[in-house]
Amino acid sequence: MRVLVSDSLAEEGVRRLESGAEVDVITNLSPEELVKKIKDYDALVIRSGTKVTAEVINAADKLKVIGRAGVGIDNVDVEAATKKGIIVLNAPGGNTISAAEHTIAMMLAVSRNIPQANAALHKGEWNRKKYTGVEFYNKTLGIVGLGRVGAEVATRMKAFGMQILAYDPFVTEAKANQLGIKIAPLEEVLRNSDFITVHTPLTNETRNLIDEDEFKIMRPGVRIVNCARGGIINEAALAKAVAEGKIAGAAIDVFTKEPPTGNPLLEQEKIITTPHLGASTAEAQINVAIAVADQILAISKGGMPSTAINMPAISPETMAVMEPYMKLAEKMGSLAGQLAGKRYETLEITYAGSIAEKDTNPVTISVAKGLLSSVKGGVNFVNALGLLKEGGVKLVQSKTESANGYNNAITLKLHNDGEAISVQGTVYGNKDKRIVQLNNYRVHVPSEGNMVICMIEDKPNIIGPCCVALGESKINIGGMHVGRISEGLPQAMILSVDQAVPEETLDKIRSIPGVLSAKTVKL
Ligand code: NAD
Ligand code: MLT
Repeated sequence: MRVLVSDSLAEEGVRRLESGAEVDVITNLSPEELVKKIKDYDALVIRSGTKVTAEVINAADKLKVIGRAGVGIDNVDVEAATKKGIIVLNAPGGNTISAAEHTIAMMLAVSRNIPQANAALHKGEWNRKKYTGVEFYNKTLGIVGLGRVGAEVATRMKAFGMQILAYDPFVTEAKANQLGIKIAPLEEVLRNSDFITVHTPLTNETRNLIDEDEFKIMRPGVRIVNCARGGIINEAALAKAVAEGKIAGAAIDVFTKEPPTGNPLLEQEKIITTPHLGASTAEAQINVAIAVADQILAISKGGMPSTAINMPAISPETMAVMEPYMKLAEKMGSLAGQLAGKRYETLEITYAGSIAEKDTNPVTISVAKGLLSSVKGGVNFVNALGLLKEGGVKLVQSKTESANGYNNAITLKLHNDGEAISVQGTVYGNKDKRIVQLNNYRVHVPSEGNMVICMIEDKPNIIGPCCVALGESKINIGGMHVGRISEGLPQAMILSVDQAVPEETLDKIRSIPGVLSAKTVKL
């Protein structure tokens, strides 16, 4: 695997990557240079500096994974990456404490005028009155976005004797109660806080979440902190509110454009700034670099990432349980796709027995991956469901208790114009994966390898000649299953063979009297 590291990454992470991949660290690439370079790499590691646009992604012929050493992925076109089957992963927990501590440092600095007083003293000015500050004690802190960083800020600020009011539409009262925080609508938080700090991601919903109208309802003398993302607070509106004296001070670590040139926030003494330092501690940088490096190395060995943005997160413990089902499901999807050999309108999946009690989403994606891979390349765990939808296939899923007498069963049905192909499979003892039903036939065959699947009349002297035809082509039969629904009706014969069956051998089998159809599949 070739890895391009295009933003500065902790040395520990680079070394970890080098233990299993060829690594180039090339920072400060222009967008044009990145577009040219990216085609040679399987993985890209970034922080917030590199913009991974659709243009970069379209040029990335070999790219399998984009690793963001940090949390925010607003600098990555995740939709374009997903469409192309590129995994986007981040390192969510690694810099939480650093970001929370930086937020608190900024709050302290802005409440006690530390940067301004320090700068004045360095210039020889001793002015104790001018830099008088305010206490946190008995004040209200408004937190917008009560995720990882917001919650860490909250717990620490309670120790200063602050009341915490938070706005986060996705956080339950129960979680807020656990943290001893009052959840309130945004307006109430803005109206009643002495300090306001934002900790949401930057999305279409949060861009300019705090703008001119929001500043109007705030308490006079409020102090504002943004260590999340530039643009959540409208920069021009904030600069104006500070200039008008409505806001006593602001502490800003992040900007709409970084580095911020000509930004109005840099023009006022009451606005203190840092150059996106929230995650800039030795500890956080090592944490995020190692977290990303380890996942990229795992992917290079066929493993699954644990913190991907565009595919379900599967912990190693869950993976240990789900892996056999996912493998079986992929083979079953492939079998159904190869047997159908044409367009289908609906994919129906039924989970039964013990598998139905689990999170079956990764199994569903595996079915889609196997199904689509039987007819096209470039399908993977990231884009399989999107491609299925794009192809107009309706996905219907259900769960039942009864598993046809098995402990667990997965059943797929491909519907097209009233016709259906169905495949059922089960996993024995968490490792033996079997196909146990094909259309209406109960069968018992392995879920991998080459197979010849024939429908034959329920008469003597058909099975033997089929085996002879394979033997004459020097194809060894490793297993055989023959079964019928009832006497006189066609039989299904499934032969597991040790190598691919050429078309002329299949034609020979098809020409044997009593053979109704013969197909070969590779699972
Ligand atoms: P997180 O995903 O754990 O938390 C974000 C929270 O915002 C979630 O609880 C979510 O429900 C909430 N949210 C989403 N939309 C919202 C909305 N419209 N209104 C209110 N709340 C909303 O993320 P995190 O790890 O806590 O990071 C928070 C922010 O801090 C992110 O923007 C991240 O990029 C940034 N960050 C910056 C630095 C830095 O160096 N300055 C370091 C780490 C994180
Ligand atoms: C993040 O989102 O993790 C931070 O902004 C830190 C960084 O950019 O590295």
